[in-house]
Amino acid sequence: DRRLKRLDITMKRNQYKGDALIEVLHAAQDAFGYLEEDVLVYIAQGLKLPLSRVYGVATFYHLFSLKPTGAHSCVVCMGTACYVKGGGKVMDALQDELGIEAGETTPDGNVSLMAARCLGACGIAPAVVLDGTVMGKQEAQQVLTEVKRWEN
Ligand code: FES
Repeated sequence: DRRLKRLDITMKRNQYKGDALIEVLHAAQDAFGYLEEDVLVYIAQGLKLPLSRVYGVATFYHLFSLKPTGAHSCVVCMGTACYVKGGGKVMDALQDELGIEAGETTPDGNVSLMAARCLGACGIAPAVVLDGTVMGKQEAQQVLTEVKRWEN
């Protein structure tokens, strides 16, 4: 598997040192899209770390995902500033449109919907992040239009 080979190269470059764990997890997530259990076990063995440690780090950092993520991602800020300015309505509309709850991915793997606590963009509340781009002052209708584009 070429993807595992990539991991081997990253681990070898770091002389299989446990310090390289984060870098190796990044390489794994890039290669596989998410961190499945087999891959975590493989990394634990390669770096001679307890599996619990590898799980600990993989679940601590929000950039790592243990579940398959959709081709597109939509993060709605549900922090106080955004919520009072309509973030909750945006989230409701998206859940209805996509037929999933926050934290889930559509069954076709197209869109992952997530809720955030505060994106640090309260000045442009309500904030939404669509495929990595922060959008401010979003109304449900605007966000739905964007998301529907992904469905085609
Ligand atoms: Fe949404 Fe801060 S509460 S960006």
